[in-house]
Amino acid sequence: MSDPATPAPGWPFWVGTSWKMNGLPDDARSYAERIAAVDDWHGVLPFVMPPFTVLADVARLLRDSPVQVGGQNMHWDECGSWTGEISAPMLRQCGATMVELGHSERRRHFGETDQTVNLKVHAALRHGLTPLVCIGETQAERDGGVADLILARQVRLALHGLTAAHVGRVMFAYEPVWAIGEAGRPAPPELVAQAAAGIRQELDRAAGAPGVSPPLLYGGSVNLENAAPYAALAGIDGLFVGRAAWTAEGYAALARAAARPPRRGP
Ligand code: PGA
Repeated sequence: MSDPATPAPGWPFWVGTSWKMNGLPDDARSYAERIAAVDDWHGVLPFVMPPFTVLADVARLLRDSPVQVGGQNMHWDECGSWTGEISAPMLRQCGATMVELGHSERRRHFGETDQTVNLKVHAALRHGLTPLVCIGETQAERDGGVADLILARQVRLALHGLTAAHVGRVMFAYEPVWAIGEAGRPAPPELVAQAAAGIRQELDRAAGAPGVSPPLLYGGSVNLENAAPYAALAGIDGLFVGRAAWTAEGYAALARAAARPPRRGP
């Protein structure tokens, strides 16, 4: 008989979206108002990550809703001569509770490395933000048979220097680089399950015990058709969505599609 106070494996289930570089103020407000009006999230934990320019507005509109708000990146320092950057205290002041770190677009186009992700993870935790660290292998790395090594390395370096207790306050998203965006192909669920098992081993090792390690989300061409099969995978604790959630209706529909049956008592 299971203890009702102990969440069932894989529960709760996160469904979040990054708007990437989309969302002018009017559109952002209308999106936020629509999802603020959703009265039943079917047990999922929702979060949105809008661009910095609308973050405070979106956070204000969602303040009384269960939807958490996060930034899509930040700097590791608190303030100083870092032209064009945003700090953790700035995100907090805007109402963010989460921050996405290490997305493959930032790694590829803006020089993000495992080392800078690690600095940012420490800074986020120091300032009370939940870091959502994105990891994923390229097609060449998968073809070359080193996907698991790459994922393990990304996890280890992201968590470097954290105590076991702090490890449990980080979230991860497995996002194969080849599955993301217009040119992406959704990853087969079996492949996601296999990669997630390897990632979980690394997370458990860092957390010092199984069952307390970070939530692991899947992202990359998630849509209404494949949301439920991904959500059914035992090793996956949530979905992180781009394009399919760029309308409020699309996002709410995805959350419904990914919702797992309510947990029953013992
Ligand atoms: P996509 O983006 O859903 O548009 O493929 C996912 C991501 O980049 O997190």
